[in-house]
Amino acid sequence: MKRLEGRTAVVTGAGSGIGLAAVRRLAAEGAHVVCGDVDASSGKAAADEVGGLFVQVDVTDPEQVEALFRTAFETYGSVDVAFNNAGISPPDDDSILDTGLEAWKRVQEVNLTSVFLCCKAAIPYMRRQGKGSIINTASFVARMGAATSQISYTASKGGVLAMSRELGVQFAREGIRVNALCPGPVNTPLLRELFAKDPERAARRLVHIPVGRFAEPEEIAAAVAFLASDDSSFVNATDFLVDGGLTGAYVTPL
Ligand SMILES: NC(=O)c1ccc[n+]([C@@H]2O[C@H](COP(=O)([O-])OP(=O)(O)OC[C@H]3O[C@@H](n4cnc5c(N)ncnc54)[C@H](O)[C@@H]3O)[C@@H](O)[C@H]2O)c1
Repeated sequence: MKRLEGRTAVVTGAGSGIGLAAVRRLAAEGAHVVCGDVDASSGKAAADEVGGLFVQVDVTDPEQVEALFRTAFETYGSVDVAFNNAGISPPDDDSILDTGLEAWKRVQEVNLTSVFLCCKAAIPYMRRQGKGSIINTASFVARMGAATSQISYTASKGGVLAMSRELGVQFAREGIRVNALCPGPVNTPLLRELFAKDPERAARRLVHIPVGRFAEPEEIAAAVAFLASDDSSFVNATDFLVDGGLTGAYVTPL
């Protein structure tokens, strides 16, 4: 499908996992893709693969974030889609009993403040166009509690969800849709690294997913393409779950 022909999509965290799969899918749908990542080699490789543009960006830095969206506009003439997706899940973010203030703050900066900065930078372009779709990566943990806690991560994703909903309401009549994408556990480097160190943690989670497996990044990218396109023109201010039934489950099949 070519639902995004001639449109410009900015993706953060473009070099890996969900971001990389989204870069590929958005490009396949016809978009010009601007790949933002703090990691220059993976971010540039993603852009090169799809004939897009790489912009090195630390999403916690306001000036770098503004430059990312400005570069997209100056190169391609519009900012139609913002997939604000960069995020971290470091091991020192754990139970509230063991998590220090610095670890808490770092995760809030990368996962939540970054989304604030990206939306703040993207919305003025979209208002001028009278059109735009913003997709902010939250998580199913914005909706469910876990006893395998990563306290700052969970709180940051709850913040992404609430902020997305509010922005979706505020700018709806200006043609701008804002949705929080809430993936279930996805088979990406972020998750593999976490679970390789602690297989018991992986097993404790897998048992709760009705479909019996983690998502593949391409399955999340398909939802991103839908939310980016006019096919989702009446989908706004949602917690868009792509979780294999995880949040709907009480008891899973044997
Ligand atoms: N993997 C999962 O199971 C899962 C589930 C739900 C939500 N998520 C969310 O999806 C998003 C992507 O996760 P992923 O699994 O693809 O992760 P990943 O680690 O594979 O990729 C994250 C990318 O973000 C980049 N990045 C990190 N910090 C950055 C910064 N300060 N500035 C710019 N770029 C930065 C990294 O370089 C990397 O390329 C995250 O927000 C994550 O919280 C992941």
